[in-house]
This record gives sequence, structure tokens and C-alpha cells, in this order.
Amino acid sequence: MGHVVNRRSFLRAAGFAAAAMQVTGVLAEELMRTPALTEGPFYPDKLPLDTDNDLLVVNNSLTPAIGEITHLSGKLLSASGEPIRNAFIEIWQVDGNGAYLHSGDSQHAKYDQNFQGYGRFLTASDGSYYFRTIKPVPYPGRTPHIHFGVSLGGKRVLTTQLLIKGHPQNERDGVFRSAKSEAEKNLLLADFAKIPDSPIGELAARFDMVLGKTPEDDHSIHGIAKSERESGGGRGGFGGPPGGGSGGPGGRPPRGESEKRGSTER
Ligand SMILES: [Fe+2]
Repeated sequence: MGHVVNRRSFLRAAGFAAAAMQVTGVLAEELMRTPALTEGPFYPDKLPLDTDNDLLVVNNSLTPAIGEITHLSGKLLSASGEPIRNAFIEIWQVDGNGAYLHSGDSQHAKYDQNFQGYGRFLTASDGSYYFRTIKPVPYPGRTPHIHFGVSLGGKRVLTTQLLIKGHPQNERDGVFRSAKSEAEKNLLLADFAKIPDSPIGELAARFDMVLGKTPEDDHSIHGIAKSERESGGGRGGFGGPPGGGSGGPGGRPPRGESEKRGSTER
């Protein structure tokens, strides 16, 4: 019976999903859980109007964001290797200049208006997700990274960060060093590899995430949980809320510093 290739292969279209199954074959044994890393202070204080999974294009703009185009994909799995569907995956990261989509970022004025800065995706029945974004760049105090928030049943179930495998700044990065072991650190690294057939040098990165507990089988979708900062669970790095007293730049902590604070002593 000819073609059993189904739509799960939407990723394959970009020609990089060959190694896709590395984690899912493992069943029975418990998978190592993806370690949590700090949310940091720069979850967007005002979400963009466009929140889709293509961060390179804002609404219908013809001008794409500046940066190395990256196809970022992976699966969300339970510790027993089962796919977790209907989970919201959010990502946010700096633009090609190192600026966040956040009014409290000291670099905000030079933010690339063509970069969406934030995106979300609802995992498919096989737990997969997909974003088109840029390869993260460093900013003062941090090695390059992409922030992830995973919500299930309206609750934030994992907050973490993805780093570039082999980046020389990783080992000096305070947030990364807060991971407990080399094995844990490895779970937070992905190759950002050139896609062989891409004439414009696009990259592909794969990042599977494993949740600690298998959440109750809740098939309803309750949307995206509040950021840790908003829900009071995080480290509340920033002073005032964006709308309210939005005073001067006075009490703001220096960039980079603020993400380190609370997650690790150094
Ligand atoms: Fe960050």
C-alpha cells in the first residue's frame, strides 16, 4: 500500500527531519526531564499583534527580520515518551541586534520592527511543534538562547531556555551553569545546522522537551498561562508594570545581570 507518508512530515519539507525519532523510540524507560531555567525579565510586556509561529514576518510585512533563518522544531513528550498534544509552546528571544520585545529592555529603541520577537504554537497530536525564527545572538551578560514556556491546561508546566551547542559563551553563562549536571545541560543544547539544500543558508535546530510529570489527561485547551512574572511566581526582576507608572529608566537592573539574579549565585 503505497504512500503512508502523512502530514507529520510537514517538517520534512524543509529537509531536516531525518533524525526526528531519536527520543520517541525509547518508550518504557523514563526519559530525562528537560531542566527548567529562569524565565528572565523579558517575556514581552506587551504581546505583538502577530503571535504566530513565524517570527521572521510580522503580519503581512514584506521585509523579513534580520538574522540567520532557523527552522526550529521538536516534540513535547511525557517522561514515558508519549507525545503531549494541545500544549501551547511559547518562545521569545532577542532580535538580530540583541534587543528584546520589551519596553524595559535598554536596547528597545533599536528593536528590529520586522522581528516578531515572540511566537506560539499548539502541539500536534504527535507532540510536535515548529517555529521559523532566527538563530539567537548574544547580548551583554548572556550566551545566545531562546526562551521557552510550555502551558498545558492553562498552567505553565515548563519554563526553560535553548542554547546553541558548542557556543563558546555557554560555559561562562550563569543561567546555563545553574543546570545541575552535564547531562542536564546537554538536554538544553541544539545544533543550529545548515540545511544542505538551502540556497540561502537556512538552519535547522531540533529541541525535544520532556515534562516531569505526565499531566492529567486533560483534552481541553485552556490557553496560555501567564508569564511567571505576571503570576508572581518568578523573580520579578522589573520594577513597575508597563502601563502604570512607567517611569524613567531609573530603577532598572542592568541587562544580563537580571537574568542571572535568582537562578544562580554567580
Ligand atoms: Fe534572555
